[in-house]
Amino acid sequence: MTSLSIDPLTPGIGAEVRVDLSRPLSDAVMMAIEQALLEWKVLFFRDQNMDLEDHKRVARWFGELQVHPTALPGAEHAELIRIAEDQEQRAHNNIWHSDVTFLEEPPLGSILRAREVPPVGGDTMFADMYAAYEGLDEEIRAKIDNATAVHVWPAAWVDIAMKSQNLGRDEFLRLYPNPEHSVVRTHPQTGRRSLFVNAAFTRQIVGMEKQESDALLALLYSQARVPEYQCRFRWQVNSVAFWDNRCTQHYAVADFYPQRRVVERITICGDRPA
Ligand code: SIN
Repeated sequence: MTSLSIDPLTPGIGAEVRVDLSRPLSDAVMMAIEQALLEWKVLFFRDQNMDLEDHKRVARWFGELQVHPTALPGAEHAELIRIAEDQEQRAHNNIWHSDVTFLEEPPLGSILRAREVPPVGGDTMFADMYAAYEGLDEEIRAKIDNATAVHVWPAAWVDIAMKSQNLGRDEFLRLYPNPEHSVVRTHPQTGRRSLFVNAAFTRQIVGMEKQESDALLALLYSQARVPEYQCRFRWQVNSVAFWDNRCTQHYAVADFYPQRRVVERITICGDRPA
């Protein structure tokens, strides 16, 4: 197998990989990137002078590209999510989450590229949700091993999606029922178990009283905040982060206003968590 130059950021999560993503890469190199992703959960690439087609090409090697349900279907580059933030327009991604878990098949991963960065601040933090699961007490693990939880859309996005897809509420609910996902999912490639609930989109553990569910979810969410399970990435223009959405959460640190920050995300379709 082709070997890549890989510099881990921490012993458990995050590694910087030196490869030029703007060139078409052989399957052997892409397979090495995939292996590195499976091992390090989030990869970082510096100085990637790539265009949108390169961005999509890299993502497409891993699967179909996802069009976010709030995007205008059929729009040019509908797969691209551009997050431009400043004092007036804030993205509110400063909450620990995995992407789009309110769909029945949440993404495999996302590839984010920085276009404009503040002089300081605007880092993204990542948490290893295998470690988060493994760090739980036996008693808690026994409680959640076969549990499922309901994930829901943020209310504001429901209106945007209904408008962009021209859907009435009934049609929307038929197309996008709130999914129930396993609280502990097994990664389809590594076979490892990870904690799969997040503070942004998970609502309630199925079959549990609301109060008990809230308390248990609060404890599970706090696992993403354990420093030993985390890494933190400082962006430069043309830095790229590629995270495995099945076993990580991330948090965009909102400490840079009134400076501006622009990032672009391409998301790769995933499967039903098992
Ligand atoms: C995201 O949550 O997808 C964006 C993360 C970031 O802006 O760093």
